[in-house]
Amino acid sequence: MTQELARTRTDQPVPRTTNWWRDAVIYQVYVRSFADGDGDGIGDLPGARARLPHLAELGVDAVWLTPFYGSPQADGGYDVADYRVVDPLFGNLADAQALVYEAHRLGLRVIVDIVPNHTSDQHAWFRAALAGGEERARYHFRPGRGAEGELPPNDWESVFGGPAWTRTADGDWYLHLFAAEQPDLNWEHPAVHKEFESILRFWLDLGVDGFRIDVAHGMIKADGMPDIGRREQAKMIGAQVLPFFDQDGVHEIHRSWRRLLDSYDGERIGVAEAWAPSAERLALYVRPDELHQAFNFQFLTCAWDASAMRQVIDSSLAATTSVGATTTWVLSNHDVVRHTTRYGGGEQGLRRARAAALLTLALPGSAYVYQGEELGLPEVDLPDSVRQDPAFFRGDGQEGLRDGCRVPLPWSGDSAPYGFGRGGSWLPQPDGWKALSVAAQSGEPGSTLELYRSAITLRKQLTGLGDGEMEWLESPVGTLVFRRSGVVCTLNALADAVELPTPGRLALSSVELTPAADVVRLPAESCAWWTV
Ligand code: BGC
Repeated sequence: MTQELARTRTDQPVPRTTNWWRDAVIYQVYVRSFADGDGDGIGDLPGARARLPHLAELGVDAVWLTPFYGSPQADGGYDVADYRVVDPLFGNLADAQALVYEAHRLGLRVIVDIVPNHTSDQHAWFRAALAGGEERARYHFRPGRGAEGELPPNDWESVFGGPAWTRTADGDWYLHLFAAEQPDLNWEHPAVHKEFESILRFWLDLGVDGFRIDVAHGMIKADGMPDIGRREQAKMIGAQVLPFFDQDGVHEIHRSWRRLLDSYDGERIGVAEAWAPSAERLALYVRPDELHQAFNFQFLTCAWDASAMRQVIDSSLAATTSVGATTTWVLSNHDVVRHTTRYGGGEQGLRRARAAALLTLALPGSAYVYQGEELGLPEVDLPDSVRQDPAFFRGDGQEGLRDGCRVPLPWSGDSAPYGFGRGGSWLPQPDGWKALSVAAQSGEPGSTLELYRSAITLRKQLTGLGDGEMEWLESPVGTLVFRRSGVVCTLNALADAVELPTPGRLALSSVELTPAADVVRLPAESCAWWTV
């Protein structure tokens, strides 16, 4: 099938429930590390399609695919040169369409990533801009400061480190909040709006169920691009409004995209990847006429501490409820150290990660699962010689490097590439991953994979999980106990066991538990669900 022909619409039936996203469990596939279909050591769309049954068995509602578009891969595909093709690394448009078709057949919705804040420096517009064409106005080109224009136009820093400006051969500078290969688009220019509307339609027509919007808080820059006056700006992201992030003007764009999404049938959604300084500001992205979801990074960055977690849960729920939306619980993604490692690593990290999974899956709202967290994968400590994250090459801008959470998944077998594909893996997998593979954990009572399978399945079967109310119950310091309509969830975040009156009938637990009729000893760092 040619790329052009592949544009015909897939109309496979997907079960349509009203407001499906409000409590959906959405699985993030980092395409290059999920499954390799052609044996080149890099995950691709045919590989992902062949592994969809794993997601159906896990019980998730939707899959989010990271960018697979035409790209020089300067930032793992978040540098898009052509938004309407599939990069040959990952397959072709027919493969994308076949994946959407197959996912729908299995009852899974498909969300694709859209990257509107910047293009690749190899995008036709940017090449024309460098050649002095009118496309220049679609980016942010400025003369430099200093006698010879030798200094950047302002003091903004790239999220990946170093100045957010690069000088071109003709002496002007262009803005890039990420790598130099990712020039920021000028969203004050009507052609940019028009082009993205057309790109969204292209993928909606192909049948996708929505978009994860990359850097949804970055498209509008403050008037006059004022200096910030401080260094280490990456550390300020998510802590305050910056002249390049979380500007009020971005909301107008999201409103127009919502109108576009609503013009399609089938409840297509928009998910904001937005870093906002407070739950209240984040909630602005999910007002009724804006996007459907925004990732809750406040919870992701919260320490392993019951009272801190409770505070984040309360403020997140209060903020989203005030605008009629639900919260999304996220523990990991392709940009952060895997949470088993963040929570202390080793057995302790895994114990906490398993408890956190049950906690978040019991809370009201939607939950995201980053590929491999259902296997309890830890962050991999990689040698610098294999690192590919542009942040590694640009200096100290981004705290923590992002390759260790992107190591390809172990599916089966005794040694690397553990069933990932026939031809190795683009980042080396550790020797000890045999016991962590999908095949090794399947059907193994007590494995992390079986815990996730049970939790996601039970979440659908038990009354009262998913969307709806929750009520905190009194519990000892260091623990959290809350009631949904038919379920009580108990979390002991402490390093010691704690006794509680038995809340009901044990439904699921992150560790082995033997409750007595009246009292239960909750093991250290564990979570359990009880039906009441
Ligand atoms: C994506 C990153 C990417 C950046 C620039 C992010 O928020 O999740 O992986 O490097 O946007 O596109």
